Amino acid sequence: AAAIPFHGAQQAGVTFPQQPATRLLAFDLPQTSAAADRETLRNVLAALTRTLFAATSDTPPDPRLESGGTTRLTSLVGVGPALAARLGLNVPTALAELPPFPGDRLDPARGGGDLLLQLCAADQWTLAVVAEIVGTAVHAGGAEPRWSQSGFLPRTAPGVTPRNLFGFKDGTANPDDAAARQWVWGPPGPHENGTVLVYRRIRMDTAAFAALPEGRRGLAMGRRAGDGSPLTGTVEHDDPDIYAKNPDGSYVIPATAHVRLTSPRLDGGARMLRRGYSYDDGPADRGLLFCAFMRDPAQFTRVQTRLAARDALNPFLEHTASAVSYVLPGVPEGAALGERLWR
Ligand code: HEM
Repeated sequence: AAAIPFHGAQQAGVTFPQQPATRLLAFDLPQTSAAADRETLRNVLAALTRTLFAATSDTPPDPRLESGGTTRLTSLVGVGPALAARLGLNVPTALAELPPFPGDRLDPARGGGDLLLQLCAADQWTLAVVAEIVGTAVHAGGAEPRWSQSGFLPRTAPGVTPRNLFGFKDGTANPDDAAARQWVWGPPGPHENGTVLVYRRIRMDTAAFAALPEGRRGLAMGRRAGDGSPLTGTVEHDDPDIYAKNPDGSYVIPATAHVRLTSPRLDGGARMLRRGYSYDDGPADRGLLFCAFMRDPAQFTRVQTRLAARDALNPFLEHTASAVSYVLPGVPEGAALGERLWR
């Protein structure tokens, strides 16, 4: 297989089908003067462009890495709202930190950051090696590591939706290309082919959820765990009908079901591109790395406000970290990441 191209209109880490292994890496820039920090950012983005291009190629420079065709390495790079404001970067005006939500238990040491990278590959070995190379390059450019987080997916055949640790298929109702143009990618202009990543590290009480009878789990989600079909349909990709009622007048997809509260029908049709991964950081700390791409982080805020108030999954969830990042447009050959950031 050939390597997945680093260059393109959009960064491959957003568009390439999800892979078994991921690693998120966040870095902070030193806070000196705006002029010096702009220079640092330029250096770091240039170093990242070189390093990520080389690491994804068919002949990576590090002997520990196999060819990009084998590792399937992809990446994305984004800048955080605080950095953008401090340096006066040309980012979407909607880019902002999220408000606090009821029930949040966020650890600042595991979230936020001036620069965010997501690496995806066929295996964790590749990601460990590339994380080291990237860390060295970013450090040489003048930025410091803030946090990193590993995640994984079950092995699935191409085109099959992977499951999360609650056992449900996760990523079924994602936008098609036309919806993504409207809701995920920036409009024509400097932010075309850019998008905003909302990251949430969500701890899941998988054992307690698994102890529920199967019917209760399905009612909490609004879909069947087995095949992922909505309670109002028969196959996975049937559209959930949130208005369908039982003979007694109650909703088939209950009022507190996750699929009802997240339905685009309650949100003017707005959609986000979800690419979640599972994580396991020890016996009492496993769950979902919620990664969703959208034009405007307010889309996430509207949905999460509804979920925080009454999602049937809430007794089993705890949001433990959060980050927002403007994922830069893709890099044409010969160009560098972030060339449209500078006014
Ligand atoms: C749908 C799981 C958190 C937004 C789904 C589905 C599952 C799921 C199984 C149905 C299958 C699918 O369409 O992918 C989870 C779990 C979560 C979680 C286990 C926490 C650990 C969130 C959060 C948000 C969110 C925090 C956003 C604030 C959505 C959306 C859909 C969805 C937008 C698609 C709704 C539709 O178009 O039908 N989730 N989710 N989820 N979830 Fe979540």
